[in-house]
Amino acid sequence: MGAHEQPPHHPHKQKTPRSGYSVPRPVCAWLACGFVSLALLHLLCCTPPGTQDAVLSPLLQYVDDTYNFVSSGPRSCNYSEGRWVYAPGHARRYNGTECDVKESHDCLRNGRPDTGYLDWRWQPGGCRLPAFDAGAFLSAARGKHVALVGDSMVRNQAQSLACLLAGAGFPHRVVYRDAGPRGKPDLWRWAFPTHGVTVSFYWAPFVARATGKALNDTLPQSMNHVHLDAADDLWGADADTMDVVVLGAGHWPLNGAIYYVNGEVIGHHVHDELDPAMDIGYTRPMRMAYRTALDRLSRSGRPRTVVLATLSPGHRYEGDTLATMCPRKTPYEEGEHELRDLDRELVGLVYEEAEAARARNGEGGATRVEVLDVTKLAAMRPDGHPGAYMHRDPFAREVQPWMAADCVHFCLPGPVDTFNEILQHILMRKRR
Ligand SMILES: *[C@@H]1O[C@H](CO)[C@@H](O)[C@H](O)[C@H]1NC(C)=O
Ligand SMILES: *[C@@H]1O[C@H](CO)[C@@H](O)[C@H](O)[C@H]1NC(C)=O
Ligand SMILES: *[C@@H]1O[C@H](CO)[C@@H](O)[C@H](O)[C@H]1NC(C)=O
Repeated sequence: MGAHEQPPHHPHKQKTPRSGYSVPRPVCAWLACGFVSLALLHLLCCTPPGTQDAVLSPLLQYVDDTYNFVSSGPRSCNYSEGRWVYAPGHARRYNGTECDVKESHDCLRNGRPDTGYLDWRWQPGGCRLPAFDAGAFLSAARGKHVALVGDSMVRNQAQSLACLLAGAGFPHRVVYRDAGPRGKPDLWRWAFPTHGVTVSFYWAPFVARATGKALNDTLPQSMNHVHLDAADDLWGADADTMDVVVLGAGHWPLNGAIYYVNGEVIGHHVHDELDPAMDIGYTRPMRMAYRTALDRLSRSGRPRTVVLATLSPGHRYEGDTLATMCPRKTPYEEGEHELRDLDRELVGLVYEEAEAARARNGEGGATRVEVLDVTKLAAMRPDGHPGAYMHRDPFAREVQPWMAADCVHFCLPGPVDTFNEILQHILMRKRR
């Protein structure tokens, strides 16, 4: 992530006019203290509850910002590093039912009783991540096609983006919501006519052209045929209309596939029936798929921004009953959870491919390439998944054996909204 500097706060350097005599410092401090206490007391006992929040939140926010500035110093900001801080109501920004999210992500509708997972915001080290601003996003994207291309985590992010924009009151129209059955294009599209903005999601779990399980749920998990030298047909057909492209595919290559270049098999992963010497793992195919996609998107010379999203890791199921799967109610605290080696490997791969694409495109190329590094912030949120609440009122009747828990995607609204806060920051800051 690039450098982003905030003007430093100097809260204690305000000059007070000096009078002819001075009050001893401790007295001053006590007077100030007493005044603030009285003001707070007044606020707490004499104003309606809504006002208290309204007044206290900015105050706490200010203290928090100042603390963060003082504790981390005025160094450049890296949004991929940070911690979740308590911020009541921060993620309560839209109603998932009203913006028509996938039912299995609509945790509130599905009866999830605890809502504390909506009370956190991401605090990067050394700077403040501004809350999502729908008006600013739409203005920055005026007349543009914002395409999110990839797996179901990218779909999760695309729905979040559409809801953040629609939930802020901007008129919108659902153009497509074709979520299967597989074999049909899995294409979602929303239009925001006031700014001529289109937001689309294109299903492409390998980014590259894929058939098999990717298009047909009934097949075994590893039964994918992936052509690493071609963009997937669905997004490839529209590539020349895209101005902002978020690309993300981390989960499916781990499950396995047979890989092709030029129509010839070049290797496989997780196919025991094939020659074990031909197992090429998952990183090489992922690199090749990203390269093909980035070259496809750089070729036309159309000015655009391509953002490579890193893996959003799921969480281990902590129990074997529906009720005990991803049951946490709060984010992990710093030091409580480490990224897996696999997560680090995939994050590194994305940074390297972004850098390689910048080098191939050359200085001042039309295509700007950025990284949306969400791995750490997602890994710290075991509390933000639907879990059993991917089903409506899962415990209202007897739990059925076919019922599963979702500990991979995030509730909407939920932590995935932060991905779009960072996307907004990337789009609005200057090119590096
Ligand atoms: C930001 O932090 C990540 C993770 O620690 C690191 O991989 C990346 O290189 C950093 N980015 C910058 C611009 O320093
Ligand atoms: C969301 O909107 C629906 C439909 O308008 C409403 O029934 C529901 O109570 C709302 N949910 C929340 C959590 O506000
Ligand atoms: C999906 O795969 C099954 C099993 O091979 C097959 O019977 C079915 O026709 C396929 N469906 C589609 C839409 O291709």
